[in-house]
Amino acid sequence: MATMEEKECDKSEPSVDEIWSFIKETRGEGFFHSFHRKCSHAIPSRQILDLIKAFVDQDTVLSIGSGLGLWEWLMMNYADLKVIPTSRSGDGYETGRKLVPWSVDVESMDAEDAVKAHIECGVLFICWPSNGFDYAYRALNSFSGDKVVFIGEWYDGCCATKSFFDLLDSDYHQVDCRDTLKCESEFTLRESWDFEPFCSIHRMEQHRYLHDEIYLFDRKKSGK
Ligand SMILES: C[S@@+](CC[C@H](N)C(=O)[O-])C[C@H]1O[C@@H](n2cnc3c(N)ncnc32)[C@H](O)[C@@H]1O
Repeated sequence: MATMEEKECDKSEPSVDEIWSFIKETRGEGFFHSFHRKCSHAIPSRQILDLIKAFVDQDTVLSIGSGLGLWEWLMMNYADLKVIPTSRSGDGYETGRKLVPWSVDVESMDAEDAVKAHIECGVLFICWPSNGFDYAYRALNSFSGDKVVFIGEWYDGCCATKSFFDLLDSDYHQVDCRDTLKCESEFTLRESWDFEPFCSIHRMEQHRYLHDEIYLFDRKKSGK
């Protein structure tokens, strides 16, 4: 008999409100148990989506490593942005797409190839690039647009590689940075989630808990 988690979701056109409800319910189940498997590695909120919308403006967003495509779906359906979701299903994470109620067309491709194939995109969106993997760096290095949205943990957290952050630091100005967990009017998250260790493997003491931030960057004039 199929368990709840194995049951495929009905994909008939969910409303934005239905997806916010799904996010809220899944958050109640905790991060490790459910949220990152059924939603995303980062928690979306209306405030953060509004911030992204204002920053992106009329540009087209290229998302790399889109995973289950929740942020991408919300950028399209809540924020009304033009988005091209791409991801390379290397770690099996994408198989979870059949379990979620939204449906997003995600081009299956490596992040660097995606950047080279979509030079029309002025914004590069990267949410929780896999720790220790160089695809975020390679994609950023090939990117010729001007704006970058990064969501995750900075430098010695659990995202990407040092080379990725070095490149952001050298070629981009930080326009804004917000704690995505604090930008939560609908939920009281921080109290419960702050005490859930996110990654115990190579985390330094001060980084034992989920630190989830959004960073907005503009290319420096002297950049590519
Ligand atoms: C940690 S998950 C984050 C997924 C999603 N952005 C989120 O926040 O939940 C990293 C994603 O990057 C994908 N990925 C891994 N290597 C990649 C590569 N070389 N190019 C593009 N995507 C890749 C993985 O399959 C996975 O979906």
